[in-house]
Amino acid sequence: MDNPASRTIAVFGAGYIGLVTGACLAELGHRVVVRDIVPAKVEALSRGEVPFHEPGLSELILGNTERLRFTLDAREALAGAEVAYVCVDTPPTPAGDADLSRVHAVVDDLVSAPHLAAVVVKSTVPIGTGDRIRERLDRAGLSHVGYAANPEFTAEGKAVSDFLHPDRIIVGADDDATADLVADLHRDVDGPVVRMDVHSAELAKLTANALLMTRISFANEIATLCEVTGADIEKVMGAVGMDPRIGPQFLRAGLGWGGSCFPKDGVALKQLASNDGLYLQLLTAVIEVNNLQPRRALQRLKDELGGFGGKRVVMLGMAFKAGTDDMRQAPSAVVASRLLAEGAEVRCWDPLARVTEPEPWGRTTRYDDPREALAGAHAAIVVTEWPQLRELDWADVADSMAAPVLFDGRNLLDPAEMRAAGFTYLSVGRS
Ligand code: UGA
Repeated sequence: MDNPASRTIAVFGAGYIGLVTGACLAELGHRVVVRDIVPAKVEALSRGEVPFHEPGLSELILGNTERLRFTLDAREALAGAEVAYVCVDTPPTPAGDADLSRVHAVVDDLVSAPHLAAVVVKSTVPIGTGDRIRERLDRAGLSHVGYAANPEFTAEGKAVSDFLHPDRIIVGADDDATADLVADLHRDVDGPVVRMDVHSAELAKLTANALLMTRISFANEIATLCEVTGADIEKVMGAVGMDPRIGPQFLRAGLGWGGSCFPKDGVALKQLASNDGLYLQLLTAVIEVNNLQPRRALQRLKDELGGFGGKRVVMLGMAFKAGTDDMRQAPSAVVASRLLAEGAEVRCWDPLARVTEPEPWGRTTRYDDPREALAGAHAAIVVTEWPQLRELDWADVADSMAAPVLFDGRNLLDPAEMRAAGFTYLSVGRS
């Protein structure tokens, strides 16, 4: 029998956020229909197939088929729904703002559901979006429907566990009834509910990501200083992160961040401020440091090789981080494009990466086994911190390469061991 506290929920968007939200809400006992506009995606999901790699997600979907359905039809999703979750994507417009057209299209669909109690937005949106949605709902005769901003803080690769065991659940609502309803949906979730106004919830999400980006860029900038002074960034940040006021996370130097969130959210926050005449200098610098990271790494490798022209270079990793198949805005695309532009032959290896763009990948050769890719190569770059790279017999690999030169763009390997294995070994901030 259903839990009496369970609700009927329509989730709009079957991307990372929508699927994790829908599957986790079903796991919590709610009846959920997820609506997407892509027929092939809905068909695959109805067969229990998840279109991307996310640990634990297919198990959750398959384990909750009684309470979780997928549809193309907005009316079907909304039939009987008490709550509508908006989880569609908000890609950048040509001006760099967040494109809200998909969010607004969902809100327009809600006219067929006057019985709704609340609309909850999980998509990452600019500050003030809630006000505009409120006006749209009022114009559509839905002024009795509550509005809440409920930003998500899940990270790819551990999104299911982040949802079910969150650090905090932010509920931004301007009326208590709506805040109570959204808080109650999470009653069996192991994490504190933090209530606030809609504007603050919207800004909290963008600020959290911007601060994480700031830490990474700061670590990368200090890593550059390490390279010229002979200090070691791992030791520096290890010591710095022991201060409980600072903490050890997101201080890893490397090729910089990528993914579907940081690059988009960083620019969106900067643009949002500049639309109001504000210039966020620190955030601008944070983004600039990140843009330079892969280029700086390539310059150092190029100096070592005396140029890339005619050289066979292996990229170890393509995904924006380990544990995911996602390549959106990954530094790997910059690395591959630059290597090709400089005349290198580019070989790639990644255990999961899902290539969706023809460029630059159509001009590279992908291997299933890193050892095969490395045989006969003039240099390699660790682009993604895949742990299996630690298990390679690097002395064997060095023997098989035309020149054993490796740039460790994620400080994944041990410098002393790599040098003992015969490598000319470069890394970030560990000169
Ligand atoms: C990020 C945030 O961590 C989530 O809290 C947030 O909910 C999510 O964005 C979002 O807005 O949806 P995600 O993009 O999945 O999650 O990835 P992260 O694990 O944060 O990594 C982002 C990038 O930073 C990766 O490219 C990673 O390699 C890089 N990174 C991370 C570093 O270069 N150094 C570090 O110390 C940590």
